[in-house]
Amino acid sequence: MFKEKKLLKIPGPTPIPTRVVRAMEQPMIGHRSTDFSLILQEVTRKCKGVFQTMNDLFVLTSSGTGGLETAVVNTISPGDKVLVASTGVFGERFAKLGAIYGARVEKIKTEPGRAVDPEAIRDKLDKEPDIKGVFVTHNETSTGVQNDCAAIGRILKERDALFIVDAVSSLGAVDIRTDEWGIDILVTGSQKAFMLPPGLAMINVSQKAWEVVNAVDTPRFYFDLRAMRDRAPKQTPFTPNVTLTLGLLEALNMIEEEGLTNIFRRHEIMQTMTRSAFKAMGLELLAEDDCASKTVTAVKGPKGLNVDGFRKVLDSKYNISIAGGQGDLKGKIFRVAHMGYTDYMETIMTIAGIELALKDMGYPVELAVGVRKAQEVLINESPGS
Ligand SMILES: Cc1ncc(COP(=O)(O)O)c(C=O)c1O
Repeated sequence: MFKEKKLLKIPGPTPIPTRVVRAMEQPMIGHRSTDFSLILQEVTRKCKGVFQTMNDLFVLTSSGTGGLETAVVNTISPGDKVLVASTGVFGERFAKLGAIYGARVEKIKTEPGRAVDPEAIRDKLDKEPDIKGVFVTHNETSTGVQNDCAAIGRILKERDALFIVDAVSSLGAVDIRTDEWGIDILVTGSQKAFMLPPGLAMINVSQKAWEVVNAVDTPRFYFDLRAMRDRAPKQTPFTPNVTLTLGLLEALNMIEEEGLTNIFRRHEIMQTMTRSAFKAMGLELLAEDDCASKTVTAVKGPKGLNVDGFRKVLDSKYNISIAGGQGDLKGKIFRVAHMGYTDYMETIMTIAGIELALKDMGYPVELAVGVRKAQEVLINESPGS
């Protein structure tokens, strides 16, 4: 077995294209050099294209959570009331961060596998106009749910509250119109659809958000957006991860070459292939079709299946790595990513491996039922591929 050929189908980190690896093999350069400054400016410009924003954008040396913390410390003063759409582990992370920094956190909590109802956000804001910010996870990785940020944006547009979105596991794979939807701060990370190792977060800041950033009195240092703005666009306040920034430039080149529209379509097709295959195999999905994530599919463990044992077989025997459940869903679901540097044939291989591992575990699956369904979806959805 070639271990290095492992199919990494977890929702981040995701596989890295060879082109990106090569870009990161370049010799180290000084982070205050003109060369790096030009690279940073190019990266920022190209990143704005993926964010679909004309506003300020910064690349942080931190994981995605650092980006979330940046959003929180720069927009919340102790005592502020904020609203968090808690659709799973990552919605809860926003809530935890808010509480740690002294916010009065109100939550709209959904059942696992359900998206937040934008109308519930409208009701809450109507009743409590003192809410200063609405925090939403665009793609809730823990449950495979996509929240409707376009609709939430429409509700927020006429109000003072900021709209802050975690798109760590969706930006770069899914159409997110940051400016058009009125998103004030959008956060993403490097190790998902951006096809890079973990270690960078990207964040944009609207004009409306800057007014709040300048006024809040939460102490902040490493994640102070004002310090980032003072050094931008040519430099960063602290030593950035030069190597990952070189990789990011190459990943952005690849994104430009494929084109955002084609990337969005590829992810939609992989999602439909995956979901249709699981349904054909008689498995139940956690999220309904109307709110399903385009980058990760969560599947309920069928009765009697040892889900984590099944994942182990899939990994050790078939060299395919998928994720389990997090938090309360541990041992109850498995999650298959279709995100970033991956394609239709890898999707089919993953389904084939899952069928084999389920059979090994004694689950009554008819071999090739899922594979066939995925192939049919591919033929129908992408005749030219
Ligand atoms: C939606 C979402 N938000 C935040 C994070 C946290 O990112 P990181 O682990 O890079 O800090 C993740 C990571 O899986 C995520 O999926």
